[in-house]
Amino acid sequence: MADVTDVEPLIESFDVAAGYLDWARFGPLSPSVRAEMHADAELLGSGRSSGVDLVGARIGEARDLIGTILGAPADEIVLQPSTTHGLAHALFGLDGTVIVPSEDFPSVRLMAHRAAVTRGMLDVREIDPPDGIVTVDSVVDALTDDVTAVAVSLVDFRTGALLDLAGLRDAVGDRLLIIDAVQAFGVVDVDWSAADVVVGNGYKWLRAGRGTGFARFSARARERIEPVLSGISGMQGDATTLGVPVPRAGAAAYSIAPSDPLAASRLAASLREILAVGTADIAAEVRRRAADVMSLADRYEVPVLTPRDAHAGIVALVPSDPPVLAAALANHGVTVTARGTSIRVSAHVGTGADSMMLLGDALADAATAGRIVAVEYGREELGGEPDAPEVITIDLPEPAPADEPESVLEAVEATDDATGGGDGTEPEALTADVVIAVVDDESIEN
Ligand SMILES: Cc1ncc(COP(=O)(O)O)c(C=O)c1O
Repeated sequence: MADVTDVEPLIESFDVAAGYLDWARFGPLSPSVRAEMHADAELLGSGRSSGVDLVGARIGEARDLIGTILGAPADEIVLQPSTTHGLAHALFGLDGTVIVPSEDFPSVRLMAHRAAVTRGMLDVREIDPPDGIVTVDSVVDALTDDVTAVAVSLVDFRTGALLDLAGLRDAVGDRLLIIDAVQAFGVVDVDWSAADVVVGNGYKWLRAGRGTGFARFSARARERIEPVLSGISGMQGDATTLGVPVPRAGAAAYSIAPSDPLAASRLAASLREILAVGTADIAAEVRRRAADVMSLADRYEVPVLTPRDAHAGIVALVPSDPPVLAAALANHGVTVTARGTSIRVSAHVGTGADSMMLLGDALADAATAGRIVAVEYGREELGGEPDAPEVITIDLPEPAPADEPESVLEAVEATDDATGGGDGTEPEALTADVVIAVVDDESIEN
């Protein structure tokens, strides 16, 4: 277990409001990332070439730091606008058959199918293991001679399951192993060199904001993956070079246009912070926080889908009545991702006792029978900005006993009466009786 004092400076740097348990969706930017971003923006604003060059150097720095964590030389690392961009480079350049999980986040699956249709050189084999939890065995069951690659998330965005990377490497043999690391990088301590391609982004667990994607392409990967999407930043020569220049050597070939130096500066700031502590200690702390979440769920008899022996920071709860728990969480100021039948709680090293207490209170509330709950499901289009919430359902989970109000409105009125709100005096907070929560139905930031 990590020596807490090693991680303490990192823990201290978390300044989000208590109750934030949604790191798998979005990691609020760390203070050092914010400071670096402001400073580098000022330098870019000066117009002085020394300042512009200094910020431009963040791109190389970020590649070096990613390489340090992945155990790979910097020339195998290329920055990307997003994980999905990196996966597109990997999957569009493949031929043969690629195994992808059917319930994984859409990035892997979608890029594989798009590549298959566009180039006609790839077959996609989807696997559908029980509960959507990919294991080495479930991949092995689908392995045939024509399989050239396996592409999968190391930590599943929905179940939180952590795949055995070393075991998978052994099982796939010489085939390419393409890993979506977005829910794992920085918070899981593995030997990343077991994978041929590793793709991630810094806007969740790294607290670096969007645009901080990266990819590693090993020498083996570069031999077998054609850089078919290589653009102006991936070509040899310069802007005056005519014709169709050949791709650059190294991972740089898998790039379309020049990287954003401000994004690189955010990424570099975040990676420096991680390296100062070490991923092993961070991973141990994150696992401990997730175990605390599981213990709370156990206390209130909420089933946990996440494998207890193989997880990082994501804990997927599958309560008997998801809207009730979602509403109780929102009511207590706990931010999570509620989707369909599951509620995803994701804790980071900076998740403190105050957040756990709010989570416990919400679980206790949800366990109390007979409460009135109104859930308002909001929708976000994939890829779009959040819309104004759209009411789909107002749900009364239990038939109300005879002496209880039938509707939320009646409950409010009844509470008004009880608290004096009906006779012109200020009502007390109604939250003890009525809960209204907004639950996202769909979101790309998963
Ligand atoms: C496992 C996984 N892969 C990919 C993505 C998408 O990442 P990006 O926005 O960097 O393309 C997400 C987003 O939630 C994810 O959870």
